[in-house]
Amino acid sequence: MKELNSLLSEKGQTHILQGFDDLSAEEQARFIAEIENIDWATVALWKQPEDLSGKGKIEPIEGLSLGEIERRREEFFALGAEAIRKGKVACVLLAGGQGTRLGSDAPKGMYDVGVTHPLYIFEMQIRNLLSVCKACGASVPLFIMTSDKNDAATKAFFKAHSYFGYPEEFVRFFRQEMAPSVDFGGKLLLEDRGKLALSPNGNGGWYSSLKRAGADGDFPAIEWYNVYGVDNVLQKSADPVFIGATIASGMNSGAKVVRKTEPHEKVGVLCLEDGKPSVIEYYEMTEERASERGADGNLAYSFGVILNYLLSARRLEEIARERIPVHVVKKKIPHLAEDGTFVRPDRENGYKFETLILDMIRLMGSCLPFEVVREREFAPIKNKEGVDSVESARKLLQENGVTL
Ligand code: UTP
Repeated sequence: MKELNSLLSEKGQTHILQGFDDLSAEEQARFIAEIENIDWATVALWKQPEDLSGKGKIEPIEGLSLGEIERRREEFFALGAEAIRKGKVACVLLAGGQGTRLGSDAPKGMYDVGVTHPLYIFEMQIRNLLSVCKACGASVPLFIMTSDKNDAATKAFFKAHSYFGYPEEFVRFFRQEMAPSVDFGGKLLLEDRGKLALSPNGNGGWYSSLKRAGADGDFPAIEWYNVYGVDNVLQKSADPVFIGATIASGMNSGAKVVRKTEPHEKVGVLCLEDGKPSVIEYYEMTEERASERGADGNLAYSFGVILNYLLSARRLEEIARERIPVHVVKKKIPHLAEDGTFVRPDRENGYKFETLILDMIRLMGSCLPFEVVREREFAPIKNKEGVDSVESARKLLQENGVTL
């Protein structure tokens, strides 16, 4: 205890021990374990966040356009379907996020987008994957990343719905790690007495978490991981054409992209940074670069990423020890105030620390941008209303013939 005290005092964080003596022995032990788990180097970043803006030489990247994909569709499909049949492809559904913008405490995948009957986000994800399994005549191992916050609820939901018809023996859940949050002065926030305000550490930690959990142990043939976000209800996962095209390209990764229609659209853009694939966030784009046009009149930086990547397992193993940058993100963080009351802030009140899968693309060394039709494959649900909302996703689902 003495050591803990001096560690916290050295870090300027003794406030979290307030009321410690009133905790039960079990609660104390759990709290101490939480504190021992803190990565102090990450927490210190609140003061001096890493400079994550593109520093190298930025250039446009070549990708596969819709026309080219259409011309080679059969060839790509055959290659991708064969890889799926041989067990070389696995899906990783990123469902560890908290969906704070949507404002529901339940896992985002449990959100019901139906109108006349229930239609859950998870259900749409499984439906889309099942159609691929049917077309290829094989099941794809499906890894679902949860967090401490939503693991139990997610598993119970899948069980209650009989995995929406997906073969249970092909599904594995694994938990991502959690990171502490601090206020704008760098003080650790508590969720309760003897409990740090922990939150999922971003989607960039999926591979280390999957490996730590040993979730892939039963599927030794995996050569490719198709990693994607839960909230795109038009997500085409394990798309054989995309898989085949990436394999044929000889690259270490592939990214599904949509064409940006106007310079200031809020999507991350795939480009080259010092010759390596890299994603520049929209807020990191200079005005000049955002509106630059190529010889064909199209935007030079036009490949918007939609969080659907195919990553080589071999390359992932090679880079497993490399550090992914940490993003210090302003968020609304529910916490215990000094006077002991629980506060649910309605505006940002502190920082969370997150790693992002898009930062992995650079480490992959090479990446094939694979263009898809936005209206057919991209209907993200991020917000309650307006852009990328339940409303806009419903409209797109209906346009794609889904009965709501
Ligand atoms: P978002 O960046 O949209 O975050 O996640 P979010 O947590 O779902 O929502 P907000 O920002 O709080 O409103 C993109 C994808 O990455 C997953 C999400 O579940 C979603 O599929 N994700 C995000 C994780 O799996 N873990 C995380 O720590 C963060």
